[in-house]
Amino acid sequence: MRTVRNVKDLRRLIQHYNESRETVALVPTMGALHEGHLSLVRQAKYRCQRVIVSLFVNPKQFSEGEDLESYPQTYERDAQLLTELDVDVLYMPTREEMYQRDASTTITVAGVGEGLCQSTRPDFFSGVATVVTKLLLQCLPDVAIFGEKDYQQLLVIRRLVRDLDIPVAIESGNTVRENDGLALSSRNAYLSENERISAPHLYYSLTQAQHRIGAGEAISKVLWDSEQYLLSVGFESIDYFAYSDAETLVPSDRRLTNRPARLLAAAWLGKARLIDNIAA
Ligand code: PAJ
Repeated sequence: MRTVRNVKDLRRLIQHYNESRETVALVPTMGALHEGHLSLVRQAKYRCQRVIVSLFVNPKQFSEGEDLESYPQTYERDAQLLTELDVDVLYMPTREEMYQRDASTTITVAGVGEGLCQSTRPDFFSGVATVVTKLLLQCLPDVAIFGEKDYQQLLVIRRLVRDLDIPVAIESGNTVRENDGLALSSRNAYLSENERISAPHLYYSLTQAQHRIGAGEAISKVLWDSEQYLLSVGFESIDYFAYSDAETLVPSDRRLTNRPARLLAAAWLGKARLIDNIAA
Protein backbone atom coordinates (compact mmCIF):
# COMPACT_ATOMS: atom_id res chain seq x y z
CA MET A 1 0.00 0.00 0.00
CA ARG A 2 1.29 3.45 -0.93
CA THR A 3 0.71 6.29 1.50
CA VAL A 4 0.29 9.63 -0.25
CA ARG A 5 0.14 13.03 1.44
CA ASN A 6 -0.48 15.46 -1.41
CA VAL A 7 -2.67 15.91 -4.48
CA LYS A 8 0.22 15.93 -6.94
CA ASP A 9 1.47 12.46 -5.95
CA LEU A 10 -2.09 11.17 -5.77
CA ARG A 11 -2.87 12.34 -9.29
CA ARG A 12 0.34 10.83 -10.62
CA LEU A 13 -0.61 7.41 -9.24
CA ILE A 14 -4.18 7.64 -10.53
CA GLN A 15 -2.91 8.66 -13.95
CA HIS A 16 -1.03 5.36 -14.11
CA TYR A 17 -4.21 3.48 -13.21
CA ASN A 18 -6.16 5.36 -15.88
CA GLU A 19 -3.50 4.73 -18.51
CA SER A 20 -3.69 1.01 -17.85
CA ARG A 21 -7.50 1.24 -17.93
CA GLU A 22 -7.92 0.12 -14.34
CA THR A 23 -11.08 1.25 -12.53
CA VAL A 24 -10.67 3.21 -9.30
CA ALA A 25 -12.87 3.31 -6.19
CA LEU A 26 -12.56 5.85 -3.38
CA VAL A 27 -13.65 5.28 0.22
CA PRO A 28 -13.45 8.52 2.24
CA THR A 29 -12.96 8.17 6.03
CA MET A 30 -11.80 10.08 9.07
CA GLY A 31 -9.86 7.07 10.36
CA ALA A 32 -10.29 5.19 13.66
CA LEU A 33 -11.39 2.42 11.33
CA HIS A 34 -13.88 -0.26 12.33
CA GLU A 35 -15.72 -3.05 10.57
CA GLY A 36 -18.22 -0.52 9.09
CA HIS A 37 -15.40 1.24 7.22
CA LEU A 38 -13.81 -2.07 6.27
CA SER A 39 -17.06 -3.35 4.77
CA LEU A 40 -17.03 -0.32 2.43
CA VAL A 41 -13.42 -1.08 1.51
CA ARG A 42 -14.37 -4.69 0.68
CA GLN A 43 -17.24 -3.41 -1.45
CA ALA A 44 -14.78 -1.09 -3.23
CA LYS A 45 -12.39 -3.99 -3.89
CA TYR A 46 -15.25 -5.96 -5.35
CA ARG A 47 -16.33 -3.07 -7.60
CA CYS A 48 -13.01 -1.75 -8.92
CA GLN A 49 -9.48 -2.86 -9.67
CA ARG A 50 -7.83 -0.13 -7.58
CA VAL A 51 -8.94 1.13 -4.19
CA ILE A 52 -8.01 4.42 -2.56
CA VAL A 53 -8.96 5.05 1.07
CA SER A 54 -8.72 8.63 2.26
CA LEU A 55 -8.09 9.39 5.92
CA PHE A 56 -8.61 13.03 6.82
CA VAL A 57 -10.11 14.39 10.03
CA ASN A 58 -11.82 17.31 8.37
CA PRO A 59 -11.75 20.43 10.60
CA LYS A 60 -14.43 22.12 8.49
CA GLN A 61 -17.13 19.68 9.62
CA PHE A 62 -16.52 20.25 13.34
CA SER A 63 -18.04 23.29 15.06
CA GLU A 64 -16.51 25.24 17.92
CA GLY A 65 -16.66 23.08 21.07
CA GLU A 66 -17.00 19.77 19.19
CA ASP A 67 -14.49 16.90 19.38
CA LEU A 68 -12.03 17.85 16.59
CA GLU A 69 -8.94 17.71 18.80
CA SER A 70 -10.03 14.59 20.70
CA TYR A 71 -11.38 12.68 17.69
CA PRO A 72 -9.95 9.13 18.04
CA GLN A 73 -6.78 8.57 16.02
CA THR A 74 -5.45 5.06 15.50
CA TYR A 75 -3.26 5.64 12.47
CA GLU A 76 -0.94 2.63 12.82
CA ARG A 77 -3.76 0.18 13.33
CA ASP A 78 -5.71 1.76 10.42
CA ALA A 79 -2.73 1.40 8.07
CA GLN A 80 -2.27 -2.21 9.17
CA LEU A 81 -5.96 -3.06 8.54
CA LEU A 82 -5.92 -1.44 5.10
CA THR A 83 -2.69 -3.24 4.17
CA GLU A 84 -4.32 -6.54 5.14
CA LEU A 85 -7.24 -5.71 2.82
CA ASP A 86 -4.77 -5.04 0.02
CA VAL A 87 -5.77 -1.40 -0.46
CA ASP A 88 -3.66 0.31 -3.12
CA VAL A 89 -3.44 3.85 -1.79
CA LEU A 90 -3.91 5.43 1.63
CA TYR A 91 -4.45 9.13 0.93
CA MET A 92 -3.74 11.21 4.03
CA PRO A 93 -3.58 14.87 3.02
CA THR A 94 -2.31 17.35 5.60
CA ARG A 95 -4.69 20.15 6.67
CA GLU A 96 -2.52 22.65 4.77
CA GLU A 97 -2.72 20.51 1.64
CA MET A 98 -6.50 20.29 1.83
CA TYR A 99 -7.23 23.93 2.74
CA GLN A 100 -5.10 26.85 1.60
CA ARG A 101 -4.92 29.50 4.28
CA ASP A 102 -7.17 31.86 2.31
CA ALA A 103 -9.54 29.17 0.97
CA SER A 104 -12.89 30.86 0.48
CA THR A 105 -15.17 28.35 -1.25
CA THR A 106 -17.78 26.34 0.61
CA ILE A 107 -20.30 23.91 -0.84
CA THR A 108 -23.77 24.09 0.69
CA VAL A 109 -26.56 21.68 -0.16
CA ALA A 110 -30.08 23.02 0.49
CA GLY A 111 -33.07 20.72 1.01
CA VAL A 112 -31.62 17.34 2.02
CA GLY A 113 -28.79 19.21 3.77
CA GLU A 114 -31.24 21.04 6.03
CA GLY A 115 -33.04 19.84 9.16
CA LEU A 116 -32.21 16.66 11.16
CA CYS A 117 -28.45 16.76 11.93
CA GLN A 118 -28.10 20.24 10.44
CA SER A 119 -30.46 21.69 13.07
CA THR A 120 -28.00 21.03 15.88
CA ARG A 121 -24.79 20.96 13.82
CA PRO A 122 -25.32 23.93 11.47
CA ASP A 123 -21.87 23.81 9.82
CA PHE A 124 -21.58 20.06 9.56
CA PHE A 125 -22.95 19.33 6.09
CA SER A 126 -21.27 22.26 4.37
CA GLY A 127 -18.01 20.97 5.89
CA VAL A 128 -18.72 17.44 4.65
CA ALA A 129 -19.93 18.65 1.22
CA THR A 130 -16.84 20.83 0.74
CA VAL A 131 -14.31 18.14 1.67
CA VAL A 132 -16.09 15.37 -0.24
CA THR A 133 -16.28 17.57 -3.36
CA LYS A 134 -12.56 18.22 -3.03
CA LEU A 135 -11.73 14.54 -2.47
CA LEU A 136 -13.82 13.53 -5.49
CA LEU A 137 -12.16 16.15 -7.71
CA GLN A 138 -8.70 15.28 -6.43
CA CYS A 139 -9.16 11.56 -7.20
CA LEU A 140 -11.82 11.57 -9.95
CA PRO A 141 -12.59 7.92 -9.13
CA ASP A 142 -15.08 5.81 -11.08
CA VAL A 143 -16.95 4.95 -7.89
CA ALA A 144 -17.07 6.44 -4.37
CA ILE A 145 -18.65 4.50 -1.51
CA PHE A 146 -20.41 5.84 1.60
CA GLY A 147 -22.28 4.19 4.48
CA GLU A 148 -26.04 4.26 5.02
CA LYS A 149 -25.26 4.69 8.70
CA ASP A 150 -24.88 8.41 7.89
CA TYR A 151 -28.02 8.53 5.81
CA GLN A 152 -28.46 12.31 5.53
CA GLN A 153 -24.76 12.66 4.63
CA LEU A 154 -25.23 10.05 1.87
CA LEU A 155 -28.15 12.01 0.39
CA VAL A 156 -26.20 15.29 0.61
CA ILE A 157 -23.32 13.70 -1.32
CA ARG A 158 -25.60 12.17 -3.95
CA ARG A 159 -27.22 15.55 -4.47
CA LEU A 160 -24.01 17.57 -4.80
CA VAL A 161 -22.57 15.03 -7.26
CA ARG A 162 -25.70 15.30 -9.36
CA ASP A 163 -25.95 19.09 -9.16
CA LEU A 164 -22.25 19.74 -9.87
CA ASP A 165 -21.99 17.10 -12.65
CA ILE A 166 -19.11 15.32 -10.93
CA PRO A 167 -18.47 12.23 -13.06
CA VAL A 168 -18.51 9.59 -10.30
CA ALA A 169 -20.98 6.87 -9.33
CA ILE A 170 -21.96 7.12 -5.66
CA GLU A 171 -22.69 3.77 -4.03
CA SER A 172 -23.79 2.97 -0.51
CA GLY A 173 -23.01 0.21 1.98
CA ASN A 174 -25.33 -1.22 4.63
CA THR A 175 -24.88 -0.25 8.26
CA VAL A 176 -22.63 -2.69 10.12
CA ARG A 177 -23.78 -3.35 13.71
CA GLU A 178 -22.55 -5.01 16.88
CA ASN A 179 -24.38 -8.21 17.81
CA ASP A 180 -26.68 -6.21 20.09
CA GLY A 181 -27.68 -3.84 17.27
CA LEU A 182 -25.50 -0.83 18.06
CA ALA A 183 -24.26 0.71 14.79
CA LEU A 184 -20.44 0.73 14.70
CA SER A 185 -19.03 4.25 15.01
CA SER A 186 -15.60 5.68 15.79
CA ARG A 187 -17.34 7.78 18.46
CA ASN A 188 -18.58 4.67 20.33
CA ALA A 189 -15.11 4.83 21.92
CA TYR A 190 -16.48 7.72 24.04
CA LEU A 191 -19.06 5.48 25.77
CA SER A 192 -18.50 4.39 29.38
CA GLU A 193 -19.26 0.80 30.35
CA ASN A 194 -22.77 1.72 31.52
CA GLU A 195 -23.48 3.93 28.52
CA ARG A 196 -22.39 1.08 26.24
CA ILE A 197 -25.12 -1.05 27.85
CA SER A 198 -27.77 1.62 27.08
CA ALA A 199 -26.51 2.41 23.57
CA PRO A 200 -28.27 -0.44 21.64
CA HIS A 201 -31.63 0.98 22.77
CA LEU A 202 -31.29 3.55 19.97
CA TYR A 203 -31.52 0.85 17.30
CA TYR A 204 -34.12 -1.03 19.33
CA SER A 205 -36.31 2.11 19.54
CA LEU A 206 -36.09 2.54 15.75
CA THR A 207 -37.15 -1.06 15.12
CA GLN A 208 -40.02 -0.72 17.62
CA ALA A 209 -41.17 2.47 15.91
CA GLN A 210 -40.94 0.71 12.54
CA HIS A 211 -43.24 -2.09 13.79
CA ARG A 212 -45.74 0.29 15.33
CA ILE A 213 -45.93 2.51 12.25
CA GLY A 214 -46.27 -0.62 10.11
CA ALA A 215 -49.19 -1.67 12.31
CA GLY A 216 -50.92 1.64 11.59
CA GLU A 217 -50.31 3.59 14.82
CA ALA A 218 -50.27 7.40 14.64
CA ILE A 219 -46.79 8.63 13.65
CA SER A 220 -46.70 11.55 16.10
CA LYS A 221 -47.50 9.28 19.06
CA VAL A 222 -44.91 6.69 18.00
CA LEU A 223 -42.21 9.38 17.67
CA TRP A 224 -43.10 10.92 21.05
CA ASP A 225 -43.11 7.51 22.79
CA SER A 226 -39.76 6.63 21.19
CA GLU A 227 -38.14 9.78 22.58
CA GLN A 228 -39.62 9.12 26.04
CA TYR A 229 -38.35 5.55 25.86
CA LEU A 230 -34.79 6.68 25.05
CA LEU A 231 -34.85 9.17 27.93
CA SER A 232 -36.06 6.41 30.27
CA VAL A 233 -33.16 4.09 29.38
CA GLY A 234 -30.43 6.65 30.06
CA PHE A 235 -30.13 8.90 27.02
CA GLU A 236 -29.74 12.49 28.26
CA SER A 237 -31.29 14.31 25.33
CA ILE A 238 -32.72 13.64 21.91
CA ASP A 239 -31.71 15.83 18.96
CA TYR A 240 -34.39 14.29 16.76
CA PHE A 241 -36.49 11.17 16.23
CA ALA A 242 -38.05 11.54 12.80
CA TYR A 243 -40.12 9.78 10.19
CA SER A 244 -39.23 11.21 6.78
CA ASP A 245 -39.49 10.70 3.06
CA ALA A 246 -36.43 8.56 2.28
CA GLU A 247 -35.45 10.65 -0.76
CA THR A 248 -36.25 14.23 0.24
CA LEU A 249 -35.99 13.81 4.04
CA VAL A 250 -39.11 15.94 4.40
CA PRO A 251 -40.76 14.82 7.68
CA SER A 252 -44.20 13.33 7.52
CA ASP A 253 -46.87 12.81 10.16
CA ARG A 254 -48.79 10.51 7.82
CA ARG A 255 -47.64 7.05 6.90
CA LEU A 256 -46.03 7.16 3.42
CA THR A 257 -47.50 4.36 1.37
CA ASN A 258 -46.44 5.14 -2.19
CA ARG A 259 -42.93 6.42 -1.39
CA PRO A 260 -40.05 4.92 0.64
CA ALA A 261 -39.78 6.29 4.18
CA ARG A 262 -36.96 6.37 6.72
CA LEU A 263 -36.81 6.54 10.50
CA LEU A 264 -33.83 8.57 11.70
CA ALA A 265 -32.64 9.42 15.20
CA ALA A 266 -29.83 11.26 16.97
CA ALA A 267 -29.45 11.21 20.74
CA TRP A 268 -26.86 11.94 23.42
CA LEU A 269 -25.40 9.38 25.77
CA GLY A 270 -22.73 11.00 27.97
CA LYS A 271 -20.11 12.54 25.66
CA ALA A 272 -21.29 10.56 22.64
CA ARG A 273 -23.88 11.74 20.15
CA LEU A 274 -25.22 8.57 18.54
CA ILE A 275 -27.08 8.54 15.22
CA ASP A 276 -28.86 5.71 13.47
CA ASN A 277 -31.57 5.12 10.87
CA ILE A 278 -33.57 2.33 9.27
CA ALA A 279 -36.02 1.95 6.39
CA ALA A 280 -39.61 2.41 7.53
P1 PAJ B 1 -16.37 8.47 9.01
O1 PAJ B 1 -17.27 8.73 10.16
O2 PAJ B 1 -14.97 8.02 9.27
O3 PAJ B 1 -17.08 7.43 8.07
C1 PAJ B 1 -16.50 7.07 6.83
C2 PAJ B 1 -17.52 6.26 6.04
O4 PAJ B 1 -17.85 5.07 6.78
C3 PAJ B 1 -18.85 7.03 5.83
O5 PAJ B 1 -19.32 6.79 4.52
C4 PAJ B 1 -19.76 6.40 6.87
O6 PAJ B 1 -21.13 6.47 6.53
C5 PAJ B 1 -19.25 4.96 6.88
N1 PAJ B 1 -19.63 4.26 8.12
C6 PAJ B 1 -19.46 4.69 9.39
N2 PAJ B 1 -19.97 3.80 10.27
C7 PAJ B 1 -20.49 2.78 9.53
C8 PAJ B 1 -21.17 1.56 9.84
N3 PAJ B 1 -21.42 1.20 11.10
N4 PAJ B 1 -21.56 0.76 8.82
C9 PAJ B 1 -21.31 1.11 7.53
N5 PAJ B 1 -20.67 2.25 7.16
C10 PAJ B 1 -20.27 3.08 8.16
O7 PAJ B 1 -18.40 10.03 7.48
C11 PAJ B 1 -17.27 10.49 7.57
O8 PAJ B 1 -16.21 9.82 8.12
C12 PAJ B 1 -16.93 11.88 7.05
O9 PAJ B 1 -18.03 12.72 7.19
C13 PAJ B 1 -16.42 11.88 5.58
C14 PAJ B 1 -17.49 11.37 4.61
C15 PAJ B 1 -15.14 11.03 5.45
C16 PAJ B 1 -16.07 13.34 5.16
O10 PAJ B 1 -15.13 13.89 6.01
